Amino acid sequence: MSQIRDLIIDRIKSIIITVDGCKSNVIDEKLVDDIVVANRKAFISIRADKSNIEKYKQLKIKVEKVLENIDDLDSFSVTLTSHEDNPLSKNQSNKSTKKGIDSISNIIAVASGKGGVGKSTTSINLALAIKNLGYNVGILDADIYGPSIPKLVGENKKPKVSDQGKILPIIKYNISIMSIGFLISEDTPMIWRGPMVISAINQMLNDVDWGVLDFLIVDMPPGTGDVQLTMAQKVPMSGAVIISTPQDLALIDAKKGLEMFKKVNVPIIGIIENMSTFICPHCKEETYIFGKEGAEFEAKRQNVDFLGGIPLEVAIRETSDAGEPILSCYPEASVSKSFLSIAQKVVNKSDAKGKSNNPNLIIQ
Ligand SMILES: Nc1ncnc2c1ncn2[C@@H]1O[C@H](COP(=O)(O)OP(=O)(O)OP(=O)(O)O)[C@@H](O)[C@H]1O
Ligand SMILES: [Mg+2]
Repeated sequence: MSQIRDLIIDRIKSIIITVDGCKSNVIDEKLVDDIVVANRKAFISIRADKSNIEKYKQLKIKVEKVLENIDDLDSFSVTLTSHEDNPLSKNQSNKSTKKGIDSISNIIAVASGKGGVGKSTTSINLALAIKNLGYNVGILDADIYGPSIPKLVGENKKPKVSDQGKILPIIKYNISIMSIGFLISEDTPMIWRGPMVISAINQMLNDVDWGVLDFLIVDMPPGTGDVQLTMAQKVPMSGAVIISTPQDLALIDAKKGLEMFKKVNVPIIGIIENMSTFICPHCKEETYIFGKEGAEFEAKRQNVDFLGGIPLEVAIRETSDAGEPILSCYPEASVSKSFLSIAQKVVNKSDAKGKSNNPNLIIQ
């Protein structure tokens, strides 16, 4: 591995730059932040100066060029990281650092401090439900370490690039979808560090041709660490929806998620209780597997809206595994109606500046 790393350094070193009138090279000027090589794949991050971003984009292209055709390397990815974007700068107020995306009216995070509570499942069904209400919708899978949206929508084709050099989102179910999972194979270990993750998210937001969207749903990764905090801070979110199961343990984490968004001044749209109840398909008896109404109670306590509950249902798990969300296969199912009612509340609470003039407009 270290041999490949050395070769990468040598090749990058061959790029000559002029600094203050003197010839130098990219490595000696310490412009390379990090080089990670794993499983025949390399990840290179270059520290970029935001005020001179066009030059750095050219540099990125040069680095990509010199890294072509390295034996023992199947693929590589070069990202630009801005040091003003440092995730450690937690205390700065986010408002001044956020840059909106003109063509997207509302960016909504779907989050929870805890893993496995149904963020991704809810994100995709919520996106479809908002679409069904007549809005233009996109979904951004911000779970760089464990992207699940490609599997949930049964897609793994590589996105195309437009003539303007923008990545075209995958269009399925009439919604625009972007995930790192479309760009990198499933078995690639995600060992990126904070700034690289932030840079990847920035690229998926800003370098993707989202077209005109009323809502972009962001499926957040689990946890409330630096990366999530920075994401919440950097992505110009209009609000966050918190997912929790009804049990105490999940609620503790949901509270952390809630606090995280409050810290960065992102309004909380409300809490959705997932796996709220289970109705036996045979005897129809109702069982509160993870407790009863815990999230609803917590919403009241936290003084945020309770958006509704989604039951634990085999059909949700089966349709998710099959790559066809329940809202698309069974739009008439009662659980789909629950998603629609939640979607309506989300829309009502968001700053939806009316539906786009052309709700079915898809740019590809
Ligand atoms: N209401 C539900 N009924 C049945 N199964 C569900 C429900 N919600 C989620 N699941 C299943 O639970 C598992 C975890 O869901 P999901 O991947 O959406 O969680 P997550 O919070 O996004 O996880 P991670 O934190 O790993 O990103 C999946 O197998 C999904 O199909
Ligand atoms: Mg997920």
